[in-house]
Order: sequence, then C-alpha cells, then structure tokens
Amino acid sequence: MQSIKKIKNLKGKRVIVRVDFNVPIKDGKVEDDFRIKKALPTINFLLKKGAKKLVLITHLGKDGSASLEPVIKKFFSLSKIKKDKIEFFENVRKFPGEEKNDPVLGKKLASLGDIYVNDAFPVSHRLHASVADITEYMPSYAGFQLEEEVKNLSLAFKNTKHPFLFILGGAKFSTKMPLIKKYLKLADYIFIGGALANDFLKAKGYEVGKSLIDGEDYGISKIINNKKIILPVDVVVGKVGETKLVNKKVGDVQIDEIILDIGEESVKMLNEYVKKSKLILWNGPLGKYEASGGQATKAVLKAITKSKAKSIIGGGDTVALISEMKIEKKFSFVSSGGGATLDFLANGTLPAIKALR
Ligand code: 3PG
Repeated sequence: MQSIKKIKNLKGKRVIVRVDFNVPIKDGKVEDDFRIKKALPTINFLLKKGAKKLVLITHLGKDGSASLEPVIKKFFSLSKIKKDKIEFFENVRKFPGEEKNDPVLGKKLASLGDIYVNDAFPVSHRLHASVADITEYMPSYAGFQLEEEVKNLSLAFKNTKHPFLFILGGAKFSTKMPLIKKYLKLADYIFIGGALANDFLKAKGYEVGKSLIDGEDYGISKIINNKKIILPVDVVVGKVGETKLVNKKVGDVQIDEIILDIGEESVKMLNEYVKKSKLILWNGPLGKYEASGGQATKAVLKAITKSKAKSIIGGGDTVALISEMKIEKKFSFVSSGGGATLDFLANGTLPAIKALR
C-alpha cells in the first residue's frame, strides 16, 4: 500500500476519499462518531497539502436507503473544514453495482476525481466497487486510518509479545472459528466469552438452557480440550420475561434459563490473565449488553486500562462501550472495524487492501 504521504503533488487536485461513516443513527442523529473522528487526520492532511476538493464516499446501512444528512451534519460539527472543500457523494450502496464490484460503477466513481484514497478500513473486507474496482482507473493510496489499522492489528500475528492473551466474545461462532484455530497457534491463552462460550459449555456437556448458541459443531470437539482455551467458570443468567439476574456456576444452569454474561468469578479469573499478559487482543463483548448492561465487559476493560500490556481492541459492540466509558485513549489501539477486523486478524490482508497494491 502506498501512503498518502507519497503523493507528489496535491495542489489543485480533486481527491476521492472512501471513508466509512457507517455509524449508528437514532432519531435522525449520529449516536457514535468514533468512525467520523478517525477519518479526520487524512482529510485534514489532504487539504493542508493543497487538494482543491475532497469527494467523500461512504455507505450507511445495509441497503443504501438511509439518508447521509445526519452524518454530514456531524462531520461538519466535528471539523473546522470549510463546506466548499468537501463534496459528499450519495450513499454508495444505493447503486446496485457497488456490492457487485461492477466496473461501470467503478469507472463512474473514478471520474469524480484525480486521485483515490481508501481510509475506510471497516468496509475493506468487502469486494465492492468503491473500495476495489475504482482503484483500477487512478492512482490509489491508503489513508492514515487504514495504515494505522494494518500496522496495529498486525502486532497480533507478527513478532507477537508473550504472554499473549486473546479474548474472544460476541456471537456468530461460525465466523470466529477460523480465528480461534489461528490464534491457538499464536496466543498463550484464549478466553472465550459471550454467546460463543455457550457453544463450548454445551460441547463440554453443561446445560445451557435457552441460551443463544450457534448449534453446529464447526470443529469445536477437536479443540475443546486444548489447554490454551479458557472458559467462564460462572455466568449471569435470566429467564424469559423476567428482569431478575442471578450469578451461578456453569454447572448449575437450568433448562429454562438464559446465559447473559460471564459471572463475577470468571471476571476475577480473566483479570488475573490480564495482569500477567504483555499483549492483549480482544474482539467481541463478554455478555449480552441489552440484558446485563455489559458489566463483565466493562470490568475487564477497566482492568486492561490499568495493565501495562499492549492492548488491541476491536468489534463494534466492545468499541461502543469504550466510547461510552470514554476510555479510548487508555488502550494501545482501538480498531474501527467489525467484520473487517476479524477478517484481517484471520487472513492478514483484505480484498480492498490487495486492490491498493
Ligand atoms: C461495518 O459497519 O462493519 C462496515 O461499515 C461494513 O458494513 P457491512 O457489514 O454492511 O458491509
């Protein structure tokens, strides 16, 4: 990837910047501006070096129907950039060619400027026209955010520090299995939390009641007894239609109960691993936020802020909690990606990164 620092002459140029402003919107307002802030260093740099105009391209939502208005408003409220320096293209997912990586759309997008910059790490795992095909027609560079993500996330698989603790939570077991397999080779301990842990507990023969599980094996039986894998020893459970939460040992869960979070003992145990680790990689929350308030995740995040370990955190829900707690600066690196972070950690590259080469 070529850095934007390598661009010889920006004076008078129109620069297309693919950003990822796919942020949560509630009641017509941006709920979390983390991704917008992350793009500002690149945008400011390009303007400072003399670019005439920046054409910002983003998607918002899955189907392209969402209006970019709240995002545009937030963008200008966060930056001192003059309005005449920026042009927002439409929600790019509105065009069917985007998700097909269609060259007709790629060329059309390329015609909007002289130089292309990808600063949209969170969508770089998609082979879409605005991050892939567009690079065929013009000089293309990586923005600071994309470079930073690659540099920092690579610390998880290049010259890793030990002891290396990998904390993996959230759901969608099927998408995370390749990661578990890879990091069983690289990490010293893998703590499994969130709904993922339910599948492991079930495979170990524990009752998991009505808890969320993926159901299929995906090779779990082959790794279940690996000593590097650490599972919760207690959990927070609730019942359908009830608000009461109870902390109990993993062996005491009843058939009508739902596991919502890891328990107090598990948090203590995990925090001991945090204390002795030199590198911590974390993706996905330890519990269901809406039900348990993310207590365990918050407690472990706090423990990490006090540790001396290098800490790399990713995944939309975990990062939203970090934003809410206003502790972002206390980690070595907070990734802006969800699926892209997982894919990069698993494969060491992404389709849109390859397109920049
Ligand atoms: C994300 O939020 O993870 C990225 O913006 C990609 O969005 P997508 O999952 O809709 O492709």
